[in-house]
Amino acid sequence: MCGIVGYIGTKKAYPILIKGLQRLEYRGYDSAGVAMISDSGDLNVYKAKGKVDNLTEFCSDKDISGSVGIAHTRWATHGEPSARNAHPHYSSTHNLAIIHNGIIENYATIKAKLQTKGVEFKSDTDTEVLVQLVEYVMVKKNLTLLEAVQVALHQVIGAYAIAIVDKRDPRQIIAARKQSPLVVGIGEDEFFLGSDASPIIDYTDKVVYLEDGNIAVIRLGEELRVMSILGEEQELNVKTVDIDLGQIEKGGYNHFMLKEIFEQPECLKNCMRGRINVEGNHVTLSAMIDYRQQLLSAKRIVIVACGTSWHAGLIGKQLFESLCRIPCEVEYASEFRYRNPVVTKDDVVIAISQSGETADTLAAIQLAKEQGAFIYGICNAIGSSIPRATDTGTYIHVGPEIGVASTKAFTGQVTVLSMLALCLASERGTISEEQYKEMVKELTLIPEKQEQALKTNEQIERLAPIFTYAKNCLYLGRGYNYPLALEGALKLKEISYIHAEGYPAAEMKHGPIALIDSEMPVFVIATRDRLYEKVISNIQEVRARGGRVTALVTEGDTQIQKFADHIITLPDTLECFQPLIASIPLQLLAYHIAVCKGKDVDRPRNLAKSVTVE
Ligand code: AGP
Ligand code: GLU
Repeated sequence: MCGIVGYIGTKKAYPILIKGLQRLEYRGYDSAGVAMISDSGDLNVYKAKGKVDNLTEFCSDKDISGSVGIAHTRWATHGEPSARNAHPHYSSTHNLAIIHNGIIENYATIKAKLQTKGVEFKSDTDTEVLVQLVEYVMVKKNLTLLEAVQVALHQVIGAYAIAIVDKRDPRQIIAARKQSPLVVGIGEDEFFLGSDASPIIDYTDKVVYLEDGNIAVIRLGEELRVMSILGEEQELNVKTVDIDLGQIEKGGYNHFMLKEIFEQPECLKNCMRGRINVEGNHVTLSAMIDYRQQLLSAKRIVIVACGTSWHAGLIGKQLFESLCRIPCEVEYASEFRYRNPVVTKDDVVIAISQSGETADTLAAIQLAKEQGAFIYGICNAIGSSIPRATDTGTYIHVGPEIGVASTKAFTGQVTVLSMLALCLASERGTISEEQYKEMVKELTLIPEKQEQALKTNEQIERLAPIFTYAKNCLYLGRGYNYPLALEGALKLKEISYIHAEGYPAAEMKHGPIALIDSEMPVFVIATRDRLYEKVISNIQEVRARGGRVTALVTEGDTQIQKFADHIITLPDTLECFQPLIASIPLQLLAYHIAVCKGKDVDRPRNLAKSVTVE
């Protein structure tokens, strides 16, 4: 996810572009850049690593003239954060400049072809491939910029929102979108572009939200034209923006956390993009290609993480042991680093971290490295400290997670762990080819099943007030759903400040059942799996002692409603993927209870988004 801004009109572009980037910085802050066609007709591209302030400092002594320009604040997916990889990207002749939000899945193939034609690349990004392809077809086939963009986008697989300028035609910006958002603002003799309306609303409230497959031809002095990638003119659907800035940044949601809960289907599609071949139901992870021997020869996997990432690791353990038959231990990084653990060169240590900056996890990696282990990272923030400390890894590609309570990063981590386990199990032959393909296929269906799970939001919002008075809550689950019980409890306690514990459901009779009374809400993950009948018994044990049970069940379940006070129904999926679905109602439950209690959901007390101290 990143921020795109564009301007073409009669004003100076630079201040409008910079202010727009500052509005969009929440969408990504690895680097920032602007491209403007100056008053003297030069195409000036200025870019800097880090936040927009670094860019404005860099531009302080530059030619920032011009009334047409594009600007970008980056959340890297391909090519680590740096000035070199920052957008905008020039074409080879420096006639064109492009900015892009999304992932070009087949960039490597296109790049290799262009390199055989003599095209030289300056960056490691997937984005640069697009502007070089546009220029290549433009020159080779003598096309207009619009025609060249249409031809190029036909060859591209992936998600994009792009804006591109040509210094030889300073009265035009071409924009296009597929799966990444892009908005055109229509002013008096001026047009604006934004990833959302926030860079635009200071200047006009008339906007066109581009649809997937749309190309926008923005020409000064002419009507905005929107067409399909095939060139079919589309009717303009001009809307009036009527929400405020705060609402826009949160995508219309009241909090970033709720926005990020609802983003999860799209995020998991991005997480799997270019890694799962849907036709062949086959997983390809670059780390498995580059370090196949080290990963296949692992005698043991040790997962080190903290908090929600540690819960994802517990699910990873069950995946690696049940599918790959590789012994796996999951360690709190903060404990691992100080207990003088036994680590050998036959170990693969997997470090899981959304921020990539958690001090305890980083320290655990250093210790494992010193003892010769192979280190694999599963992170969200590209180029952060943990990925730089590992031998290899896989980014989860869920975009910036702003809410302190981790939601989309958790399901992104579990998705990467699932892909890695499937890769290893297939290569090791510990699952049949048929089972492998069935599981890969089911994994690709998870985003649409998450969409169904999100439909429980209104029911959960209605339920939430019942629980706001609780002093303690219990979350119960078994098998793959036990780590999820822990995660549901963590979500509740960290944003509502209600004490909550997760437990293996069968453990209740070994002590915790003494806690049960009518004042203790008990949330049970009772989705259909091998242990379903046993979970029913656990629910009955709770009910027999006056406990109030809210159960997450699989659609079609007719048994549990006899024993539960409230039922939340979810789509069915394979047992190992149930946390990817059942996490959603638990996230929503914590969110709505915290909102009912008037808590600061996105910035809960005492917590930070990234714990960079021990
Ligand atoms: C989860 O909701 C919390 N914000 C916290 O437990 C978090 O998961 C933990 O601090 C680990 O952070 P990391 O994934 O960035 O390493
Ligand atoms: N995939 C592009 C890159 O890594 C764009 C990332 C973004 O959306 O900011 O540069």
